[in-house]
Amino acid sequence: MRIGVLTGGGDCPGLNAVIRAVVRKGAEVYGHEFVGFRDGWKGPLEGVTMPLDVPAVRGILPRGGTILGSSRTNPLKVEGGVARIRENLEALGVDALVAIGGEDTLGVATALADQGLNVVGVPKTIDNDLNATDYTFGFDTAVQIAVDAIDRLHTTAESHHRALIVEVMGRHAGWIALHSGLAGGANVILIPERPFDIDQVCEYVKQRFERHYAPIIVVAEGATPAEGTMAMQEGELDAFGHVRLGGIGQVLEREIEARTGYESRQTVLGHVQRGGTPTAYDRILATRFGLHAIDAVHEGDSGVMVALQGADIVRVPLSAATKELKLVPLDRYKEAEVFFG
Ligand code: F6P
Repeated sequence: MRIGVLTGGGDCPGLNAVIRAVVRKGAEVYGHEFVGFRDGWKGPLEGVTMPLDVPAVRGILPRGGTILGSSRTNPLKVEGGVARIRENLEALGVDALVAIGGEDTLGVATALADQGLNVVGVPKTIDNDLNATDYTFGFDTAVQIAVDAIDRLHTTAESHHRALIVEVMGRHAGWIALHSGLAGGANVILIPERPFDIDQVCEYVKQRFERHYAPIIVVAEGATPAEGTMAMQEGELDAFGHVRLGGIGQVLEREIEARTGYESRQTVLGHVQRGGTPTAYDRILATRFGLHAIDAVHEGDSGVMVALQGADIVRVPLSAATKELKLVPLDRYKEAEVFFG
């Protein structure tokens, strides 16, 4: 078989580990050939490829990013996009695709599989918000990066008696904020699933100072104030219709300082959370996903995604992963609330 591989959406530590596992097992165990598609769905849409064989994947296990490149190109928004992909795959002699991506990339994979193309998905996102899998690779690395930052911010916050706000990624789901906030001993955690009350946040900040400690507030970029409590700016949209976020840390910095009188500063971790080498956990999860994805392709399965359930890698319908996002349940958030203030 000749199999195409692509990585789409925001990059994520562990992508190269998946590519390596797919190619190593696919070539060495099953004798398949591979075509690397460049920059997400742009590759199959425009027929942009790169060689992908065992020598091409040597040494990439610990490397962040993706050797294939990524983009947020949405072929479903391009006129005749699906037909062009089909033509390009036929011209290249590609029998099946392994699509490694998050909700958007796998949403396209679902549509293509519905139209008869052979596609197997691998779930990827630092946000950990894909349904049907307990964890996505990249999440553990992002949380570890955020925790390292929070540990450092504690000491400088104490020295200067400041409230420090750490803005982490998480557009719709607050998993990174929740986990990094819990592991980093944050005094307030704000997530998109739970609109916050700025007066309550300021109360926690004051309480913390009264106990002679400096507060750390971890906020997900998608967190919003409860309706009617604080004005927010609108952002621009990407090809999948997502608002470009960022800025809630700055808003909190201003509001907390104005309302409590304590000096406040924000740190936006941004794309640092997506860069660099994956943790051992993410390397292993990504590798196992890759091994099971190539098994699925080899067995002629399509329209499925590999997923972690407990300790096992299973196959689920692609649609199960993308139907709705996996958000932080309220009771999980409540566990963390014990440590607020
Ligand atoms: O989906 C992963 C993610 O890192 C989100 O947490 C974040 O909102 C988004 O990507 C940022 O996207 P971009 O790299 O396009 O700024």
